[in-house]
Amino acid sequence: MSPFLLTRTLPEDATDAALRADVLQGLTRTPKVLPPKWFYDARGSDLFEEITRLPEYYPTRAEREILIARSAEIAEVTGARTVIELGSGSSVKTRHLLDELPDPLHYVPVDVSESALSGAAESLLAARPELRVHALIADFTAGLALPGTPGPRLVVFLGGTIGNLLPAERAAFLTSVRSLLEPGDALLLGTDLVKDTSVLVRAYDDAAGVTAAFNKNVLSVMNRELGADFDPADFAHVALWNQEHEWIEMRLRARRDLTVKIPELDLVVHVDAGEEVRTEVSAKFRQEGVRAELSAAGMELTHWWTDSEGRFALSLATAR
Ligand code: AVJ
Repeated sequence: MSPFLLTRTLPEDATDAALRADVLQGLTRTPKVLPPKWFYDARGSDLFEEITRLPEYYPTRAEREILIARSAEIAEVTGARTVIELGSGSSVKTRHLLDELPDPLHYVPVDVSESALSGAAESLLAARPELRVHALIADFTAGLALPGTPGPRLVVFLGGTIGNLLPAERAAFLTSVRSLLEPGDALLLGTDLVKDTSVLVRAYDDAAGVTAAFNKNVLSVMNRELGADFDPADFAHVALWNQEHEWIEMRLRARRDLTVKIPELDLVVHVDAGEEVRTEVSAKFRQEGVRAELSAAGMELTHWWTDSEGRFALSLATAR
């Protein structure tokens, strides 16, 4: 098995500083908010994996269906020699695409989790020793310095995670992706689609309560990392459809008046009974909206593939 390169572009303590800043800002404003990236410690990542197997949570299966059906075509159209994956996690779904691209192939998984990156690299290389893996520990929302791998490059952002960004953040993110693309390069983007409200809400409020546990996990993260004394039992999981913005929101609603200490921030937070902390936005898309957002960032939508039920889409775009 060939060795893989791991480059850290994120200082060891960057995550810690970002969590402190986000919690301090988010819990001292009205309405209170916490960014969804703090769900994903080891337990949160396990809970998310469990979510992807729930009967109600269709996006992962729908996206996998598209990748299985279209990877050969994506490989053919892009002729990619380097695949750069933002938020690569376990890289499991991406295997379908990598398997269609010939050697020598360079794979640049980008993630904030070093353990996810080394685990993914190890299992990819066990199956394909010729793959050149240059893993990057980086926050892809910040702007990336990519290794000098050969083109054409295909930047891949799967899972519908772009929906976690607010519109202005999406515009900034897509513009920074655009800046990575040279002529002949492409972006493959996964987006969940607008559909029946009850189907959407059920996907974020499953019967087994896994999403509720995932949502409340952010409280445990703050307890462990910042010495806070949140009791998850004091909060109810809320998932609702925001019709105006066409996004799902997850919130944590206080079941009673609360006073929470966050010693590491020298902060005491009051939460009124019934008050809600927004923990996630998960935007849902339409083809015209995706096309317009890509265009505004200097890219052109060239292909649009959905699963057989039209629930989820993969878009291919090139630089204009
Ligand atoms: C990983 C961001 C795509 O928004 O559907 C799953 C996260 N939140 N259930 C999504 C999530 C609640 C997921 N993404």
